Amino acid sequence: MNILLLGSGGREHAIAWKLSRSAGIRKLYIAPGNAGTGITGINVDLDLRDFQEIRRFVLENDIDMVIVGPEEPLVNGIVDFFEADELTRVIPVIGPAKSAARLEGSKDFAKAFMQRHGIPTAAYRTFTASEASAAREFLRSMKPPYVLKADGLAAGKGVVICTNLAEADQEITEMLEKARFGKASEKLVIEEFLSGIELSVFILTDGQSWVLLPEAKDYKRIGEGDTGLNTGGMGSVSPVPFADEEFMEKVKINIIQPTIDGLIKENIPYRGFIFFGLINVNNNPYVIEYNVRMGDPETESVMPRIKSDLLDLFIKVAEKNLAGATLEISEDTAATVVLVSEGYPGTYEKGALIEGLDKNYPSQLFHAGTTVNDQHGEVVTSGGRVLAITSVAPELKEALALSYSTASEISYKGKTLRRDIGFDLF
Ligand code: AMP
Ligand code: GLY
Repeated sequence: MNILLLGSGGREHAIAWKLSRSAGIRKLYIAPGNAGTGITGINVDLDLRDFQEIRRFVLENDIDMVIVGPEEPLVNGIVDFFEADELTRVIPVIGPAKSAARLEGSKDFAKAFMQRHGIPTAAYRTFTASEASAAREFLRSMKPPYVLKADGLAAGKGVVICTNLAEADQEITEMLEKARFGKASEKLVIEEFLSGIELSVFILTDGQSWVLLPEAKDYKRIGEGDTGLNTGGMGSVSPVPFADEEFMEKVKINIIQPTIDGLIKENIPYRGFIFFGLINVNNNPYVIEYNVRMGDPETESVMPRIKSDLLDLFIKVAEKNLAGATLEISEDTAATVVLVSEGYPGTYEKGALIEGLDKNYPSQLFHAGTTVNDQHGEVVTSGGRVLAITSVAPELKEALALSYSTASEISYKGKTLRRDIGFDLF
């Protein structure tokens, strides 16, 4: 089959790497991709906001399936766009339609959905711009810290946790009254703060049946000991020790199945990944958020543990034939360390030459913010997150040691990493 995978991060390189091991792949295109996906497959320079351009490429290159990595094209309706066109209708897109992508695209929709279907999540209320004073009043009925969330996609910056009322009042002003995130903060969700350890759980579903992928934990803060600003993710590990059989049973029975049943009940078709951002509160899982895609850098730890053929699973999803499918998963532990640019998640320089990429490592190098320099054909940095280094070993300690050893052999100006990935799991 000819496949087009949309996206350009470490997540997409990990998916491309896994797909490239499937016997059924003829051509694997990644748009726009990065320096790493350009080695695993063929990069194509497409604008993911330009669905017409994607359509043209798909038709001209006999693409048999499109796989969507990031949420934005899904929330913008790429699936609906393909389904509305006679020529592309027959080409399956792995990813949900716009109506289902609201699970990620609108926090208010997701919270109301969970409430309708009895799925455990923090208590909440939603407010619009004309309800700012009611929002302030609601705050006063709650205990700190206060969790405020812009309703729409806000590039990962839409969630603010305030320790006192003055700060929270100010946030209401910024988000609701001054529309800091434009349309995304036309509505504001205020919710109860939940205290516990977070983990990421993933399924692949055809809208009726689902298979559970390996769970993972990501490390979001820039600083060691989980301090400092939130990033896209500085590392990940899979499996997660506290996600034992008993806990995962609760996840399946209280969260995953009710989510699928809810989608069916509301006539919302779904083909693709669901990412449950969960928090473990006294051994009970609660949903912090839904995402309609895989996590990054979780995917970089998840894919290497999947033994089954990923393309076969995607075909089953496309044919709505996932019932009875099983996933073979390695018992080993995967540990991913992300190398970032100095200054990230704030401003940082691009274009630094990356050295040491071509050695034989006991790790998998998944590229994120890398590109091939036009002038000399060298691989240079092009983003905040540069590389995700994943190693697999029987024990977490060993996997981490391998990833850190590989990390020490790669160099570029401003190379920055957290040296404590997995620290909380020993
Ligand atoms: P989200 O974008 O919804 O994943 O939120 C970003 C981060 O904020 C989460 O990963 C949590 O660490 C934190 N967070 C969100 N909602 C809550 C909550 N209700 N209680 C505690 N922490 C939260
Ligand atoms: N690592 C969290 C995310 O992908 O949203």
